[in-house]
Amino acid sequence: MLHGAVYNAFALKSKSLSINQGFYFKMARDQRDHYYRLAKQEGYRARSAYKLLQINEKFHIIKKGDSVVDLGAAPGGWLQVAAKLSGGKIVGVDLESIAPIPGVKTFVADITHESTVSLVKDALGGEADVVICDAAPNLTGAWDMDHAVSVDLARSALKIAKKLLRPRGNFVVKVFQGDLFIDYLNEIRREFSSVHAHSPLASRKESAETYVVAKKMLTGPVRKGEMLDVQIEYLGKSGDGVALVDGFAIIVRKAQKGERLRVKIDAVMPNFAFADILERKS
Ligand SMILES: C[S@@+](CC[C@H](N)C(=O)[O-])C[C@H]1O[C@@H](n2cnc3c(N)ncnc32)[C@H](O)[C@@H]1O
Repeated sequence: MLHGAVYNAFALKSKSLSINQGFYFKMARDQRDHYYRLAKQEGYRARSAYKLLQINEKFHIIKKGDSVVDLGAAPGGWLQVAAKLSGGKIVGVDLESIAPIPGVKTFVADITHESTVSLVKDALGGEADVVICDAAPNLTGAWDMDHAVSVDLARSALKIAKKLLRPRGNFVVKVFQGDLFIDYLNEIRREFSSVHAHSPLASRKESAETYVVAKKMLTGPVRKGEMLDVQIEYLGKSGDGVALVDGFAIIVRKAQKGERLRVKIDAVMPNFAFADILERKS
């Protein structure tokens, strides 16, 4: 679980905050108490429930009837929210056991272990519409190490999500910010159609945690930045050339029917991609 003092220290250092520290910590504590009290009143097991509620309000990640997998789910605040938002199949996994929640299956497992994927698949009985992960490492206080472990956990969550999600499924994951964050964000950008890094209001202002909100998992055979040789099969409605890679449409601007081209993928959508011409081969 998080230990605020470590992150207070990091955030103050890294963001060069100039405001009075005492006032700052009081604000942070008041904000924390607000969500803590609200969680008590509204029957949520953890104040973090409000983070997922706020993320969902902004990005519409979980819809009615969705199958949801929660990685690092104890004590169960996010599971309660997922159950309320979806009412579909919900599965939660954590190193700690989770007290029962109506309509939710939970089990103890490590999300860094390969074997956890089949356990979740069996419990879910199909593909997931949404995978969410609020897992946090045990902090050592050594900032670089804690950040690296957080990114490792988030990377394990991405690996599991890619195996569990249906095409166009959604993924939310917590990461503590630091040097390795941007590379991780770029990995997620390659796999999803739309990706945002977001800090919900319910996250403490001094916290270094960020949630990566990724929508519409891509399953086509190409990724942004890839270079490949293609032949234009036909012209689309817009007049641009269309090449097919394993039946997946690559729209190549300013290309003519029959041309053989070296192209670079510029943007990938769930059902097609755009590419620019690098070289005309014929
Ligand atoms: C911040 S808590 C999650 C709170 C939860 N979202 C809620 O609303 O109740 C982080 C959780 O991640 C879990 N965790 C950390 N590493 C894990 C791992 N390798 N596998 C499974 N769970 C892990 C911890 O046991 C802890 O319960």
